[in-house]
Amino acid sequence: MDAATAPPPSPARWRVGLEQSPVSSVTFRHAREHRVKACRGIILKGMCGIVGYVGPLTPSDRPLSVALEGLARLEYRGYDSAGVALATPDGVQMRKKAGKLKNLRDSLETDPLPAATAAIGHTRWATHGAPSDENAHPHLSADGKLALIHNGIIENFAALRAEVESSGVRLRSETDSEVVAHLLARAFDAIGDLTEAMRTVSARLQGAYTLLAIHEDVPGVIVGARRNSPLVIGLGEGENFLGSDVAAFISHTRTALEMGQDQIVTVSADEVRVIDADGAPVTPREYTVDWDASAAVKGGFDTFMAKEIHDQPAAVGDTLLGRADETGRLRLDEARIDESVLRSVDTIIVIACGTAAYAGHVAKYAIEHWCRIPVEVELAHEFRYRDPIVNEKTLVVAISQSGETMDTLMAVRHAREQGAQVLAICNTYGATIPREADAVLYTHAGPEVAVASTKAFLAQITACYLLGLYLAQLRGNMFIDETQALLAELAEMPSKIQEVLDTEGHITDVARDLSGVDSVLFLGRHVGFPVALEGALKLKEIAYIHAEGFAAGELKHGPIALIDQGQVVIIVVPSPRGRDQLHAKVVSNIQEVRARGARTIVVAEEGDDNVEPYADVIFRVPQTSTLLAPLVSVVPLQIFACQLASAKGLDVDQPRNLAKSVTVE
Ligand code: M6R
Repeated sequence: MDAATAPPPSPARWRVGLEQSPVSSVTFRHAREHRVKACRGIILKGMCGIVGYVGPLTPSDRPLSVALEGLARLEYRGYDSAGVALATPDGVQMRKKAGKLKNLRDSLETDPLPAATAAIGHTRWATHGAPSDENAHPHLSADGKLALIHNGIIENFAALRAEVESSGVRLRSETDSEVVAHLLARAFDAIGDLTEAMRTVSARLQGAYTLLAIHEDVPGVIVGARRNSPLVIGLGEGENFLGSDVAAFISHTRTALEMGQDQIVTVSADEVRVIDADGAPVTPREYTVDWDASAAVKGGFDTFMAKEIHDQPAAVGDTLLGRADETGRLRLDEARIDESVLRSVDTIIVIACGTAAYAGHVAKYAIEHWCRIPVEVELAHEFRYRDPIVNEKTLVVAISQSGETMDTLMAVRHAREQGAQVLAICNTYGATIPREADAVLYTHAGPEVAVASTKAFLAQITACYLLGLYLAQLRGNMFIDETQALLAELAEMPSKIQEVLDTEGHITDVARDLSGVDSVLFLGRHVGFPVALEGALKLKEIAYIHAEGFAAGELKHGPIALIDQGQVVIIVVPSPRGRDQLHAKVVSNIQEVRARGARTIVVAEEGDDNVEPYADVIFRVPQTSTLLAPLVSVVPLQIFACQLASAKGLDVDQPRNLAKSVTVE
């Protein structure tokens, strides 16, 4: 029996302080505190990436180059089309192309746009209308003086479209967004002020939106608005930036402002003004982005996914950093939950989607073992619609890399409405989910660009361990020396992950050999089960190979019928030093599938010789406590999927039909 799976100690022996750590300082122009108003109800939201840049009134090429660079960093949000609009001395100039950003770049090289003072840019994930040139953003007003980009879905667009068309305007696209361009232009003509026009029009829109607009009469200004879609502001010297997230401008400034719900921003080269829906000035929260610009580029790897797999020792190490106070006690990043409430929690429900949900499955094993609290794990979209039993004694843990996943956000809102406390585990500072949660534990994986999540997964698992240890400490399930022993073990994980990365050559050879297979099954048990599920998901989403993950114990209850001559089966084997003879049982499973003709790839600890007779291939991982093993055992599966997809010549970072952040229900 290893340390992490030893029986938990008896409860309630000491108390700890829960510190509220200020994460940013507000040094902006207006004094009023900004509060996020959680928006109730079901909202559909489109994805898409948005960037804006305003510089000096002397036109230059910088607005376009900043916009294109921002779009390249935001392409993970959608890549159905890309477009830019510039405020130039010749009025608003626009170019947009269906397909990836490269198509837009090629067009601009062949037929360049003039120097400008401001730019807005958009990369699209299609919702209303096919991915065509016409439906690409920006959209122009009828007189061509105003350009607008939009992320989201305008739910009342049919009525607004009818209104616009009845005024004699012929719409050029099938989008809900173009309607807003016409409404905004009309409001500007009537009011003569772009900010006020945006405020008036926004008030008429239902649904979700981030909007940015430029107008040729105010060439040094971008006006933006947001509801239920993200928008952040980057503060520069004599220039300012806007983006769906900080990746849009990270190479130019690290000083950012959070935009709240239903706010309007007016940005020029020297000033940023934010107002609320009533027109009252607002002071947005200023913070420093601690991501390195180089973290958002490939760093010598062929793909972002490969780079992000190699970022994992740092992602785990950084997520562990600075968690304990001077007395060694753990703390959360932001805590707006009373300690007594956390002590009285009788159920934890983890809500998340995709890979984040598999991190939640790992959390269940650890938190139940360490804290003796029942933990349920549920896909956020299922939780939201099944009338879950949730009350003030329920702690809902929402795990999301992006913090913008609509299914998870809706589940968070639903849980809070039922009286539950919500704790977010998130990788994106200031995203909607952590802002609406009662407490936050940030992962520090840095920007994850590849659609297939890797380093965020390991960071999420790490954060779940920290949460388990924090609750165990708070509720008295562990002495401080016990939590510290586990923290010390966690601190060794980055170098163990690196040891797995060092075996990449062997895994790559195996992946290349198997690039022709059309089905792979994954088996795992205990914490190896979510690892198997994650291994299968990686292979499906980037290599387009049919892959299924099963609990190894379930094999004889059905899945074994799938085993045929040559079927590839990847088995995640628990530590031979673990409890309950799980190791022996999984080794039997390997024998069972091999006897029926399967080709077996076994993920096993260094020194585990028992698996050798039954494994065609072994991916070795360092010895680790059972509960912490997912941090190493998933790594070969990530490399396997990445290298197999590369060997097939597929677009590893931007797989078909997917986008990084799923912000539609
Ligand atoms: O941003 P989130 O963590 O909320 O995203 C959740 C899932 O959409 C995400 O993990 C998805 O499953 C990835 N493509 C998996 O690689």
